[in-house]
Amino acid sequence: MKKRTLSVLLVMLLTAAALLTGCGNDSKSNEGTKTGLPTIGIVQIVEHPSLDTIRENILKQLEEKGFVDGKTVKIDYKNAQNDTNNLKTICQAFSSNNYDLIIAIATPSAQAALGETTSIPIVFSAVTDPVGAGLVDSMENPGGNITGTSDTVSAKKIMDLALQMTPDIKTLGAIYSTGEPNSVSVMKELKEYAETKGIKIVEATIMNSSEIQQAAQSLVGKVDAVFSPIDNTVATAMPTIVDVLNKAKLPYYVAADSMVADGGLATDGVNYVALGKATGTMAAKVLNGADTATIPVQVMSDTQIYINKKTAEEIGLKIPAEILEKATDLSE
Ligand code: TRP
Repeated sequence: MKKRTLSVLLVMLLTAAALLTGCGNDSKSNEGTKTGLPTIGIVQIVEHPSLDTIRENILKQLEEKGFVDGKTVKIDYKNAQNDTNNLKTICQAFSSNNYDLIIAIATPSAQAALGETTSIPIVFSAVTDPVGAGLVDSMENPGGNITGTSDTVSAKKIMDLALQMTPDIKTLGAIYSTGEPNSVSVMKELKEYAETKGIKIVEATIMNSSEIQQAAQSLVGKVDAVFSPIDNTVATAMPTIVDVLNKAKLPYYVAADSMVADGGLATDGVNYVALGKATGTMAAKVLNGADTATIPVQVMSDTQIYINKKTAEEIGLKIPAEILEKATDLSE
């Protein structure tokens, strides 16, 4: 076949494909429209590796259950770029367009969604403390138009891991956002546990990612190690923190596998691929008519140890053999 004929054929095929899939993935084409297909609004507070993994796996699982974007449903994905005003605008639009389902990724997104609608069903994903964040009446009986999945973060388990890897911690720095309920609830548990161990906590709190470098720097010379809870703002700026702390040879314990992959030293955390899939399954159930009020929040509680050998090397730390044996290395 001639080259020209081939490219004409290709264009025709692509056009046909675009028509079939409802004009591809341009999110603009979904905006404010309500076609015959059920519409799902996905709102994500910010893009960082863990939340992106979650979203990808929600979509995969929805497809698995027959909800395919452009074919059987319309999906309108919005990233709020870690801005609460954006969150509000996005959720207002979802609500006024009367979408069929809202999937809210991370705590601030879920709070914003619930603030805009008490009738559209909301399925949240990876909310660490749904009761503390005021989203549900109880984990067993959410009670309203909202339910979802929760990522247990055990400050106690992470602290125990830290003490196994670096037993001489007397003073522990903590970098987190005071505006994220997910971080605040983990910090509460950490402070209580640290007290029983006689460890002093030095806080370096932030309001947004521009304060992160300064926060990390403020801990240098004052602490023996540093901890961050499951904090979305911290997760967007890992390289900045890791740069400061590695230079100061400070072990940095974190709360998610992605934060270890991004240079944190270690964590004991949940599997976010599994969490994303569980959220997708739940969303499919709700699309099929199940009532959010009576679907218990699904808590992902199986945790695993993750380490970053490269970071360990950079700070001159030898990881104990009994940890190496059971841990997954996420460097490279
Ligand atoms: N659990 C967080 C929340 O409730 C969201 C989250 C999921 C997260 N994975 C993460 C935050 C990894 C930081 C890093 O909002």
